[in-house]
Amino acid sequence: MSVRLHVNVDHVATVRNARGTRYPDPLFAAHVCEAAGADGITAHLREDRRHITDDDIVRLRASVTSHLNLECAATEEMLEIAARVVPDTITLVPERRQERTTEGGLDVAGQRTMVGRFVEAAGRIGARVSLFIAPDEETVRLSKDLGAKQIELHTGEYCHACEPGKTAQRDRELERLARAADLASTIGLEVAAGHGLTRHNVGPVVAIGAIAEVNIGHSIIADAIFLGLAKAVEEMRAAIDRRRG
Ligand code: PXP
Repeated sequence: MSVRLHVNVDHVATVRNARGTRYPDPLFAAHVCEAAGADGITAHLREDRRHITDDDIVRLRASVTSHLNLECAATEEMLEIAARVVPDTITLVPERRQERTTEGGLDVAGQRTMVGRFVEAAGRIGARVSLFIAPDEETVRLSKDLGAKQIELHTGEYCHACEPGKTAQRDRELERLARAADLASTIGLEVAAGHGLTRHNVGPVVAIGAIAEVNIGHSIIADAIFLGLAKAVEEMRAAIDRRRG
């Protein structure tokens, strides 16, 4: 079965916010991505609003017709926004203000109370909760216990190891991803993956049969500078389908 491609449009907003203009608009980007074959749109509402804003999320909810995945931290503020916007999926991610991007998996054990509240609220409004976690078997089990419907495996360590001379490390990271994905699938969790994926390193990840979805942002927006956004999405789709068409 093919792997769903959700395109993260955060960095369209990064470019817009660099100049305080109204363009480029992540909403327009979302339409282009959907028309080019994306199965869903992802946007991360950060605590410091460095890219996506509250208004972007409201507008995306009103116009995304495929699947809207809202990434956010497990906080009271985000719970209130998620309950108002009602995305299709709420992906809980760790967040530290100083980090350049989301640098690790969610501390599910440490945040179990808020995670539980998100799962409960999501159930009431008809959204599902996905937890962005490191490929760690104990965290996979805990995610299931807390009622998450999906986990998204953090592929950052694998992507860092996709450099010359790091083949053994890359293979170990792939093995960790495969083991966590298989366990999750066995206990009834849907499995997504993301972070740092490019057209060049996505193949071995989507070759893991339990992975049903990937969330990819930075490399697609970077490719769009040279290829145009529609073509960048199509090229990513093709790279995925070469391994799991
Ligand atoms: N998935 C999650 C949960 C993320 O937080 C991010 C980064 O915002 C991504 C996927 C996309 O990562 P990238 O921009 O490196 O493709």
